Amino acid sequence: MLKVNPIKVLLIEDEEFDVRRIRNTIKPFEDNIEIVDIASEGRYAIELLQTKKNRYDLVIMDFQIAGGLRGEALIKRIKDIDPSIQIIVITKMTINITDYDFAHNLLDAGAFWYCTKYPGDIEDYIYQPTDFIISIFNAYERGQLIREKQKSNQKFDINVKSILESRKILGVSEVIVKLREQIGNFSKSKAPVLITGHSGTGKELVAYNIHYSGPRKFENFIPINCGGIPDQLIESELFGYEKGAFTGADKSKLGLFELANNGTIFLDEISELPLTAQVKLLRILQDGEVEKLGRTDKTKVDVRIVSATNKNLEEEVKKKNFREDLYYRLNVLPINMPPLRERKGDILLLADYFLNEYSIDMGKEPPVLEEAAIKVLTEYDWPGNIRELKNLVQRLLFYDDKIITVQLLENALGKKISDLENYFGNEGVSFRSLHGIVPLKQMEKTFREKYFRFIRSQCGSDSEAAKKLGLAHPNYLRMCKELGLK
Ligand SMILES: Nc1ncnc2c1ncn2[C@@H]1O[C@H](COP(=O)(O)OP(=O)(O)OP(=O)(O)O)[C@@H](O)[C@H]1O
Ligand SMILES: [Mg+2]
Repeated sequence: MLKVNPIKVLLIEDEEFDVRRIRNTIKPFEDNIEIVDIASEGRYAIELLQTKKNRYDLVIMDFQIAGGLRGEALIKRIKDIDPSIQIIVITKMTINITDYDFAHNLLDAGAFWYCTKYPGDIEDYIYQPTDFIISIFNAYERGQLIREKQKSNQKFDINVKSILESRKILGVSEVIVKLREQIGNFSKSKAPVLITGHSGTGKELVAYNIHYSGPRKFENFIPINCGGIPDQLIESELFGYEKGAFTGADKSKLGLFELANNGTIFLDEISELPLTAQVKLLRILQDGEVEKLGRTDKTKVDVRIVSATNKNLEEEVKKKNFREDLYYRLNVLPINMPPLRERKGDILLLADYFLNEYSIDMGKEPPVLEEAAIKVLTEYDWPGNIRELKNLVQRLLFYDDKIITVQLLENALGKKISDLENYFGNEGVSFRSLHGIVPLKQMEKTFREKYFRFIRSQCGSDSEAAKKLGLAHPNYLRMCKELGLK
């Protein structure tokens, strides 16, 4: 119990006689308990607490003191300034020593303990010394525990903030703004979330954001890829097993659901979960109970389930690969991730962001995107979505050029722009325009024009071009005219 640093006490007491009695009561422990300041008035005590932050471990206060601020009101003010500080109250002897309401109100206001001071004819002690001293030590320990908890919560909070910072969902498009709002709402609930969307659209990112924005943020977030574990192992991974459950089970194993207790489990590629495991998962969703292999009684868990898939689960249900009842249980709060090509407004923002981030990582100036390259980026279809864009940016930076040209994009994409004519032509013509998909008639005209131009550039004369195109000469000329090439 001996402390290297003494417990620092602020004493609030206005009677010399009682100050002396308190000092004398703690005297045998003066190396461990130090009265740092004495305030004879509530207001002065508050001033001390406000100006000398962290100077005191403990307050010992007389309940009835001079001045307007005293009693429960003073206790509350002290706790407002520092909720971790512990308060021991000394009260005058009351006739009715079993006044529970009085005691209750004191503790309610925030006091740690209270004692009824000895009558005035006991000159040496304020209270039974060992009880008084033990209470001081107990109060100190409690204060320390609270302070440590505050500190570790702060650390956790910083941790959570940095996780969220590194997993920001970027975008200004309407769908992304809505998505962020949806995550904010969904994170508060415990209901299962099913995230659907193509590969690389940010499903995992969303799962992290749901967990770390909600009340479970200080608990475990356990991601598991259901497609990445062999069928025969998935049940023992998810639900665990008892020692002796099967040959080779020489000790029991905690399942991921137990590990995620009070937190969140992220079941990625949920469509790949074998049917037997689907039954067990359904039971967890229904009763919150895990069935461990080799154990008859069930283990209760409180786990939030977020799952994701890039398959059409309804189709999987139709094909009997996925249980319908489980599908409905998982899909309580649905989130659908739009492909990148459907939110073109975000492409440049994301490209810029990744260019900056990776350039900083590599310790160089971010390169600038040439106008034509911006057009290519926004017109491209991005089948691999944001992951593809992110990877492309990483590759681009290895070329170490200050300006990103179309040529550089071609190299980094590993595709020739001419191969990309599905997306845009030489003049930047694409299947899509600002108004949506280009109508067939317009598309045909564009294609003919480009095709004719190409053939003509390969031929020395009109008759050669007509021949290559398999057209009679007059027809060739008429069509060139229609296309505005002559
Ligand atoms: N809106 C976004 N802002 C910033 N980064 C994003 C965004 N969306 C996705 N990313 C990044 O793109 C990459 C792919 O995202 P993620 O892994 O979440 O996709 P996914 O939908 O889970 O893909 P898959 O189906 O292939 O598993 C990650 O590096 C992620 O951080
Ligand atoms: Mg994923």
